[in-house]
Amino acid sequence: MEAQRIVDILRNGQLDDTATIQGWVRTKRELKNFAFMEINDGSAMANLQVVVDADFPDYEALLKRITTGTSIEVTGTLIPSQGKGQRIELKPTNLQIYGESDPETYPLQKKRHSFEFLREIGHLRARTNTLGAVFRVRNACAAAIHQFFQERDFLWVHTPLITASDCEGAGELFNVTNFDLKQVPRQENGEVDYSQDFFGKRAYLTVSGQLEAEVMAMSFKNVYTFGPTFRAENSNTSRHLAEFWMIEPEMAFCNLVGDMDLAEAFLKYIFQSVRDRCPEDMEFFNKRIDKTVLATADNIINNQFERITYTEAIELLKKAKKKFEFPVDWGVDLQSEHERYLAEELFKKPVIVCDYPKDIKAFYMRLNDDGKTVAAMDVLAPKIGEIIGGSQREERLDVLEKRIDEMGMPQEELWWYLDLRRYGTVPHAGFGLGFERLVQFMTGMGNIRDVIPFPRAPLSADF
Ligand code: 4AD
Ligand code: MG
Repeated sequence: MEAQRIVDILRNGQLDDTATIQGWVRTKRELKNFAFMEINDGSAMANLQVVVDADFPDYEALLKRITTGTSIEVTGTLIPSQGKGQRIELKPTNLQIYGESDPETYPLQKKRHSFEFLREIGHLRARTNTLGAVFRVRNACAAAIHQFFQERDFLWVHTPLITASDCEGAGELFNVTNFDLKQVPRQENGEVDYSQDFFGKRAYLTVSGQLEAEVMAMSFKNVYTFGPTFRAENSNTSRHLAEFWMIEPEMAFCNLVGDMDLAEAFLKYIFQSVRDRCPEDMEFFNKRIDKTVLATADNIINNQFERITYTEAIELLKKAKKKFEFPVDWGVDLQSEHERYLAEELFKKPVIVCDYPKDIKAFYMRLNDDGKTVAAMDVLAPKIGEIIGGSQREERLDVLEKRIDEMGMPQEELWWYLDLRRYGTVPHAGFGLGFERLVQFMTGMGNIRDVIPFPRAPLSADF
């Protein structure tokens, strides 16, 4: 008999049905005449309880081999459960052990483990309740994102991971090399010659797929990317990774207001979709991780986001009774503490801040008529801070060329990007959503390293 998912059995299984499950033993309890075990197959938070009577063939020998972590297949009949918290349980007619799990060395025990400890056993942590729920919600977010864009006829475009351009201009790039490590090319002064590193050219891991997404938007109008991006920022915080996933829609014939409208509709859609699809997991987060998770989801779904300009944000921060570590003044970049104050304390909902000073933003953002600010927008979320960063792009060739020169960037390397302004330019806009920050926001998880299966960050486990 083909195995069924435990979640389906728990939801829909009828008494006297025959069922087969495959999974891993979470716990085992032996009583005088029978034993219980809880089996989990990753399909849900809940386990299915299996009750084995003492007259089951080879009972004693079998039970000795079954411990936490053992992989097992059980076929049996669904019977009413006497225990609390579950409707049905499985009484086996056939039980097969696939792999034993030495209780002396298996690191996962019934008690709650700290997330720090679980990060050291990254290869096993997905078997815990919390990480299991995180990765199911992560999957549901990804599916909702594709659904949102596909319903709106956005084309999913695949942008390269190896690139020559520093989209954000922040210099946080990882080099890609095919050096023979025994013969690293050197300049005359002895320093490594990186201009040679990718088959004779310089190359990096991408920090953003935006520039290439703009290329695609100039023929398909509405496109989006969904892929890994890399930042060599050595920030050891609970919100930064060296490798993270980003979703970047790009829309031709669109301005900053259209961009903000899309960002807001997008977040609302994802929250609604995950609430519908993962109710048990969301309840779990609300109970065990952060008591505001469900209220936050409702807040996102039902309330309009606040929209303010950067200049207004600075005024509000100056008026705040709070003492900030980093002082605020017009022209400074907003720090996480400022972003969180606005979203978490002042407005108590997501805040979209727009029209930032041009000097703290990237080269491609459209210059506003005041000559000082650009058509940028960041969505700030309670507890997280910046979750989305976006802008209307500079579509005017002369203005863009001037800006690139001002910033000391090499025009010749961006010839293809400038071509988009030479041939059929249009107003266009887009944004980037940090996927892991979204999953953190959704689940209330405190550390970004616990919402991605294999975190890559300074000092993180490297396998
Ligand atoms: O604000 P950022 O740098 O914007 C861009 O990369 C633009 N090219 C996006 C666009 O307009 N198409 O990054 C976008 C988002 C941030 O708001 C944040 O959520 C996330 O990416 N992010 C990170 N997430 C995890 N770890 C890091 N080191 C991150 N850096 C940015
Ligand atoms: Mg940003």
